[in-house]
Amino acid sequence: MTATALREMRWQDIDRLVELERELFADDAWTANSWWGELAGRPRRAYVVAEREAKVVGYAGVDQGGDVADVMTVAVAPDAQRSGLGQRLLDWMVTTATGSGAESLMLEVRADNVSARKLYDRNGFEQISVRRRYYQPGDVDALILRRLLNGGASHV
Ligand SMILES: CC(C)(COP(=O)(O)OP(=O)(O)OC[C@H]1O[C@@H](n2cnc3c(N)ncnc32)[C@H](O)[C@@H]1OP(=O)(O)O)[C@@H](O)C(=O)NCCC(=O)NCCS
Repeated sequence: MTATALREMRWQDIDRLVELERELFADDAWTANSWWGELAGRPRRAYVVAEREAKVVGYAGVDQGGDVADVMTVAVAPDAQRSGLGQRLLDWMVTTATGSGAESLMLEVRADNVSARKLYDRNGFEQISVRRRYYQPGDVDALILRRLLNGGASHV
């Protein structure tokens, strides 16, 4: 199997990220401007890409500002999915959030995103609230999930 390495995201990745966003997120895709803003938000925001044969095939980002860290995004190119990369990126986010001192890691997922929900479910994320019809068009609910990190206590 071809090796895939995680490395820090850089601005030179933006064109490829925009391409993957369109493919993976359609109406919700981030633009180049969104990516420039995200990278400008470092070091509070931390981003990595997964690179295979010099090509970016996945990426993830976390906001690590305080007690609560947030998953900003996680994605894997269609032809690289189901090979454990999503899991590796999620592991990186959990490690990064834990290292920043956060007590929990939160994220928002579309209720109709079966693959992502399975990934989160098997990694100990629990639903703590719902934003009804948050995603438009389509009237799709947003589920708010949380995973407690090392010793984090529930304050909700
Ligand atoms: C969600 C996503 C990141 C998963 O990436 P991936 O590299 O395919 O995930 P992995 O190969 O590490 O799979 C880990 C587990 O997730 C679950 N999973 C992943 N894809 C799945 C699918 N299509 N159907 C059902 N379960 C799935 C499974 O439990 C899987 O474990 P298994 O392969 O042992 O059954 C990927 O599907 C993706 O990029 N989707 C589009 C973008 C997106 O929705 N991001 C999340 C936004 S909240």
